[in-house]
Amino acid sequence: MGNTGTGELLVADGRPAADLWSLDPTVAHLNHGSYGAPPRFVLERETQLRDEMNADADAWWRGLDGRVASARERVAAWLGAPIDATALVANASAGAAVVLASLDFRSEDVVLVTDHNYGAVAMAARRRARSAGARVVTLQVPLNADDSEIVELFRQHIAETPRLKMVLVDQVTSPTGMVFPVADIAALCRSAGVELLVDGAHGPGQIARPTEGLEGAYWVGNLHKWGLTPRGTGVLVANPLLPADRQRLFPSIDSWGSMNPFPQRFDLQGTLDYSPWLAVPAAIDGVEERIGWNRYREHLAQLATAAQAAVADIWGAELTDLPRNPAPSLRLVPLPDGMVTNEAQAHDLRDRIAADANAAVAITSHNGRGFVRLSAQVYNTLDDYVRFAESWNPGRRRAATAQ
Ligand SMILES: Cc1ncc(COP(=O)(O)O)c(C=O)c1O
Repeated sequence: MGNTGTGELLVADGRPAADLWSLDPTVAHLNHGSYGAPPRFVLERETQLRDEMNADADAWWRGLDGRVASARERVAAWLGAPIDATALVANASAGAAVVLASLDFRSEDVVLVTDHNYGAVAMAARRRARSAGARVVTLQVPLNADDSEIVELFRQHIAETPRLKMVLVDQVTSPTGMVFPVADIAALCRSAGVELLVDGAHGPGQIARPTEGLEGAYWVGNLHKWGLTPRGTGVLVANPLLPADRQRLFPSIDSWGSMNPFPQRFDLQGTLDYSPWLAVPAAIDGVEERIGWNRYREHLAQLATAAQAAVADIWGAELTDLPRNPAPSLRLVPLPDGMVTNEAQAHDLRDRIAADANAAVAITSHNGRGFVRLSAQVYNTLDDYVRFAESWNPGRRRAATAQ
């Protein structure tokens, strides 16, 4: 098979990987991490399944349980997660909501989050805690903290926080693209008897076995980001401290499936479109056949590193005080000081870049610093990032605005 690195990745039949997608060629697609992008062969399988449903809905629903169960079992095997602990959900947020609803928060309990969490899931944890009279404490983790510093911060907070009920941590942090040492954090929570919810939205596909070492924890993930599945395909892996506690987890859609034990009760959530779930095996097998998941991960990591260096070089940005253990496919490039200091400014700049440079990039902020968060995907080449950096330059833009 073809080269790996920063040029075009060639798939098994010799074509460039980008040929597997039908992305709008007029847009620079540098933000795979936010919403994913399924390749055409996955979308075709999803459409075939949807057509089957629409041709005879009665027959489709009569046979559905077994088909969903077998897709769920394929997902568990692919993730390396226990089959009896793995349920399919709509997305990572849905999985987190299920876990939060199942835990018995009491007044004066504490929930520990970090300043790197994905905002909407942290917001859900806050709302759930508040409804029970519990408190949320935010752990500040320096952007350039190494694994042992991060573990030490958690160790201190877990030891020193009375009534700590739950820790919420991103496995790959959404705004900052750091890989957190979640297995070590899980070990700390296990020995302290504290619940742990790992938000692994960016794990599947990007990390080979994302639930490894998470005994005692709840983990939620999205398949549609780096797993290249259709959207609407999330996973909940429930390994609570007491395995019997899994049975307290119910889908938020309370339908006929709810009478079944976990995880089967998640297989049937009323009249939903199950085509995305049933198309997941096509993505798992199709990427393995055409690219190979290990080669895919290696390529993303090399491309992301090269993209970050190239963009920083063109912009004259210094790559200092950045994550020591960045996610394989996500990299930050700092924006000039003061340009973006909060989320509202980040969204505003993202929209301006889309309008001015026809580029889809994520803009994030952490602790008052603003960043472009670049994603690498096999449909990208280094040229995509170079062209973007040459077409939109934060330094030049600022100077122009000041005139
Ligand atoms: C860490 C993290 N958690 C959760 C989500 C939410 O994903 P969804 O909206 O699919 O539930 C995201 C989305 O980017 C994320 O990055």
